[in-house]
Amino acid sequence: MKEILPDGAREVSGRLEIGGLLAGELADRYGTPLIVVDRPTFEARANAYAAALGADHVFYAAKAFCCVALCEALAELGLGIDVCTGGELETAMAAGFPPERILFHGNNKSFEELRRAQEVGVGRIVVDSLDELDRIEEVGVTSKLLLRVTPGVEAHTHEFVQTGQEDSKFGFGLGDDVALQALGHALALEGSKVVGIHAHIGSQIFEMSAFDLAVKRLAAFLARARDELGFTATELNLGGGLGIAHNEDEMTPDPIGSWDLIRAAVEREFKDNGLEVPELFAEPGRSIVGSSAVTLYRVGTIKRIPGVRTYVSVDGGMSDNIRPALYGARYEAFLADRMDAPKGPRVTLSGKHCESGDVLIHDVHLPDDIAVGDLLCVPATGAYTYSMASNYNRVPRPAVVMVSGGTANEIVARETDADLFHLDRHLDGSAIT
Ligand code: LLP
Repeated sequence: MKEILPDGAREVSGRLEIGGLLAGELADRYGTPLIVVDRPTFEARANAYAAALGADHVFYAAKAFCCVALCEALAELGLGIDVCTGGELETAMAAGFPPERILFHGNNKSFEELRRAQEVGVGRIVVDSLDELDRIEEVGVTSKLLLRVTPGVEAHTHEFVQTGQEDSKFGFGLGDDVALQALGHALALEGSKVVGIHAHIGSQIFEMSAFDLAVKRLAAFLARARDELGFTATELNLGGGLGIAHNEDEMTPDPIGSWDLIRAAVEREFKDNGLEVPELFAEPGRSIVGSSAVTLYRVGTIKRIPGVRTYVSVDGGMSDNIRPALYGARYEAFLADRMDAPKGPRVTLSGKHCESGDVLIHDVHLPDDIAVGDLLCVPATGAYTYSMASNYNRVPRPAVVMVSGGTANEIVARETDADLFHLDRHLDGSAIT
């Protein structure tokens, strides 16, 4: 279990401590469900990327988990940030994030989003479509531009999180001449500064071979771009995608080693094509924040169906972690206040939502004497949990606390019931008071 917990987690007389604070105390103080982010782990993962690529060559993918405090922490570390909507951009701006270290993504950026990006002075925009190029021209964007291409690589990951294959809503395919034409178009825009290309092949990737193939195809594309358009890329952004372990059967790849391999592939392929080796950039999300956090839940109901199965229901579920239901993601869980209790038979850990599919873990070994009121910890929940959280069944979203050296700060407050209907209006359109 230790491997999938944050670095700052340890067992103290059978009880889980994170960042010098007992999980039980945090749960009592802030309520449950509670997302606990261990700041030193977050910083260590971010710094590992900074060591591999240089801090200003790493754009943390805000989509994994985005809030003002996290953006502030990243800004302090000197990293950049990848935003893919106006909302993520505004969150970074609210954190005082240096705009030149912001990179703007998205397959359908609106005119208003591009205008705002131009107004605040974002450093880079990744161009995803011809329609966007029209809008970029109309806005008069002066940021550096990268062209997003899909290298036709299928990373071995869940279909919903594959992005590099030809059949994709993202970017320009390399299969025909679409990408080359788009590059020509982008280069012809008045005052445009096209600095390179971008490719993101998928998420939760464990096998490096997919990156090798992508790099090969990108180098071949840039050789054509040089020959036919006289274009030299100074920047190559290979997106994010490195996986993390959510359970004990998985192994988290080391970012430094993985990016050393990617860099070697880039150097080899670019030199083979007689190309200058561009600067390398990355957009990791999950591998920075994923293993930094755990979710604490309180057990509320235990239903034992003899000879069939036991359902242990907690006070959250698919509204704070949709990943098991959506992607079949497999997590682990243990009792945070009785870590040394012997494990019993397999049970199903379910949420509180009115839906049978609201399962957090299908088969998990929990102590046989698990009881109502026990505190459960689900590790490796930092990425794509809160950021994908919903108010399904009008369940308020959890609080998020950041812990370090015996101190906890609430970085996202728990939603209240009143928050749930603050946008509602009466039948006659009047406000709810
Ligand atoms: N860059 C681009 C252009 C992306 O589309 C993504 C993720 C990333 C970077 C960051 O990828 P990461 O390092 O986090 O793997 N909701 C899904 C994951 C969707 C990923 C979308 N794009 C999940 O929960 O698994």
